[in-house]
Amino acid sequence: MARRAIVAANWKMNGDLTLVNTMVTGLTNVELQDNVSVVICPSTPYLSSLVTKVKAEQLNTAICIGAQNVSEHESGAYTGEISTKMLRDLSVEFAIIGHSERRSYYKETSTQVAHKVNAALNAGLTPILCIGESEAERATEQTETVLASQLQPVIDEVGIEKFIDVVIAYEPVWAIGTGKTASSEMAQETHQFIRQFLAQANENVAAKVPLLYGGSVNASNCEELFAQADIDGGLIGGASLQVEQFKIICSAAKGK
Ligand code: 13P
Repeated sequence: MARRAIVAANWKMNGDLTLVNTMVTGLTNVELQDNVSVVICPSTPYLSSLVTKVKAEQLNTAICIGAQNVSEHESGAYTGEISTKMLRDLSVEFAIIGHSERRSYYKETSTQVAHKVNAALNAGLTPILCIGESEAERATEQTETVLASQLQPVIDEVGIEKFIDVVIAYEPVWAIGTGKTASSEMAQETHQFIRQFLAQANENVAAKVPLLYGGSVNASNCEELFAQADIDGGLIGGASLQVEQFKIICSAAKGK
């Protein structure tokens, strides 16, 4: 059974046209192992030039572009929002959905996240569904309950069979941007829980869903994390803004 690995760059509200250029130039000679995709997710204003440059450089087809968010609505009076169709028009293939920063700062609920995943799938975009517990939730042993409560509304809305086209990113909130990475054992244990939770609904699908780890991944810790049985790559924040470091992380990923 082949499960692909993915390394996704979440630039968040960082980066500029210079980074777009240096990233594309850097990726011209990135060495990827078998069955690995790389997804670059810049802020919306840079999507178009990133797509154009990736095409112009004729990069490896494993290099894809993703958005950091998407509207759950098809179209209409939603000022500032971006639809799935608009992203598809730009040849965007992935969309990060339900990042903890959107859940906490913009009050996105798991129900809204489920609507967004549904909209993305209907448009042929691959959702990178983010889930993760806070430090207090981990400390009070609520991690599994929280993850289940974030996953179940999505399963209920789209159906477990559609998860074959979903990527899940486990990002413990306390590890994001803090330099505090989950240990590889802790990350593996949690990824295993996520896969088992999906397997209760459909074992076949669960075995194929790429589960990414996110939270202070860097060039030094990526190899050990990616070696874990249920870790299929990473969602990278800070380290994805540094092209050489990001390339090392991409090269460490391997399909399972
Ligand atoms: P850092 O890699 O900066 O901790 O960010 C992780 C993240 O939130 C990626 O989505």
